[in-house]
Amino acid sequence: MVLLKSSICLLAVTGAVASPPFPLSRRQSTLESFIETESPIALQGVLDNIGADGALAPGASAGIIIASPSTSDPDYFYTWTRDAAMTIAALVEELRAGDATLETVIQSYVDAQAELQTVDNPSGGLSDGSGLGEPKYNVDMSAFTDAWGRPQRDGPALRASSLIAYGNYLINNDQEALAIANIWPIVQNDLAYVGQYWTGTTFDLWEEVEGSSFFTTAVQYKALVEGDAFATAVGGTCEACSVAPQILCQLQTYWDGSAIISNVPSSGRSGIDANSIIASLNTFDPTADCDDATFQPCSARALANHKVYVDSFRDIYTINSDRGAGQAAAVGRYAEDTYEGGNPWYLATTAAAELLYDALYQWDQQGTLTITDVSLAFFSDLVGSNATTGSFSQSSAQYQSITSAVKTYADGFLSVVQEYTPTDGSLAEQFTRDTGEAASATLLTWSFAAFLTAIQRRNGEVPASWGSSTASAAPSECSAATVAGTYATAAAGSW
Ligand code: NOJ
Ligand code: NOJ
Repeated sequence: MVLLKSSICLLAVTGAVASPPFPLSRRQSTLESFIETESPIALQGVLDNIGADGALAPGASAGIIIASPSTSDPDYFYTWTRDAAMTIAALVEELRAGDATLETVIQSYVDAQAELQTVDNPSGGLSDGSGLGEPKYNVDMSAFTDAWGRPQRDGPALRASSLIAYGNYLINNDQEALAIANIWPIVQNDLAYVGQYWTGTTFDLWEEVEGSSFFTTAVQYKALVEGDAFATAVGGTCEACSVAPQILCQLQTYWDGSAIISNVPSSGRSGIDANSIIASLNTFDPTADCDDATFQPCSARALANHKVYVDSFRDIYTINSDRGAGQAAAVGRYAEDTYEGGNPWYLATTAAAELLYDALYQWDQQGTLTITDVSLAFFSDLVGSNATTGSFSQSSAQYQSITSAVKTYADGFLSVVQEYTPTDGSLAEQFTRDTGEAASATLLTWSFAAFLTAIQRRNGEVPASWGSSTASAAPSECSAATVAGTYATAAAGSW
């Protein structure tokens, strides 16, 4: 009731919102009720886009996840290794939270990946691992042969991590034999790829610039650390995993003292990019300290960078004109973006929320929150002069008021998504910078998956630890050591 009144008030005061592009009822419903309606829509949205039974994925092989049903402008009726892996990670978390109905679709994804790994493509083949860096395939699992930004070296790492998440679930549910037989052979190839090729240049996750990409380096590091532990758990070994400390060393080079510069070379951009935010979502370890080296969500670096990132969109999108410092805003890939309008993205806006839910979870685990010179500006935006450097224990008034402001800020990003989500709950790739109408690819699988993970974290449902705190430290001098891999065809699973 109180919320309802205040939102009416706001509309009255800012009379400029005379003809809202979306029904008033939508704006007035609380965030809680939006989450309640949108969550099942998002889950169904994901499932509709997975072959062979997904309603919107006709012709896609079993376990193949299309990026979107859109076949023109843009044509996203392909499967991308990256989108698919992060989508499955979201489904594995739903499974861990109790939705057992998802297990067969996860298993069909596993089987499809075993086969996809063997498909010769313009990036190469399996015999020397090079083909694993291919970013996208046709939905019938044949190679996509047109010109494209390739290779994209985040794919094998992300797939390894998603498969390991499911493999660990199997192990924890007395199904170790399935993890050994069906998961490990695929993971082994992907880990070998990372160890062999991590120093090679890559197209970034947005498929646009070639060089080094923070996101790619971050997910490669995580895959090798958890890959080493998973190898041990299934009675195997991971030679490639020995280069993990070198990758961690490399990861530090993207930090410029006040923000993460996501692309090297900069390719004419500032480097302030959702790349960095989504990286921290992937390297989030619920048991970690607020570790700067791995850019944990609660680290001073990640929070300082979050502010710089969000601020970069305040002045460039018309729909943000009333969203000043400290208020949640619509955010996109990076400020210079022009692709399909260069608009805000749903998955970037949910990521801005998710990083903060992760941080809140970590502070609660640790029972303390620390503000440093590096993160002070982030907190000052939220609590003004009440933000001072220092450590605040959970029982203190400061801890309570700061974390409550962070929670409000995080929820604000979801409210932005709520405001620009059409009444049928469909999530496209983008929403326009001028009016907030849905734009670019419709029903984007990754948008739905990103919504699901943000809500999971908001509910305190977090992935298992990947071992960040027990991993070896980075050497004092970085080296470009690589490990030549061996690769073998993984047989499709028998479940
Ligand atoms: C297609 C890619 O998927 C997208 O990320 C990129 O922005 C455009 N090509 C333009 O290069
Ligand atoms: C374009 C995005 O930039 C890229 O990250 C994504 O993999 C594809 N679209 C497919 O969704």
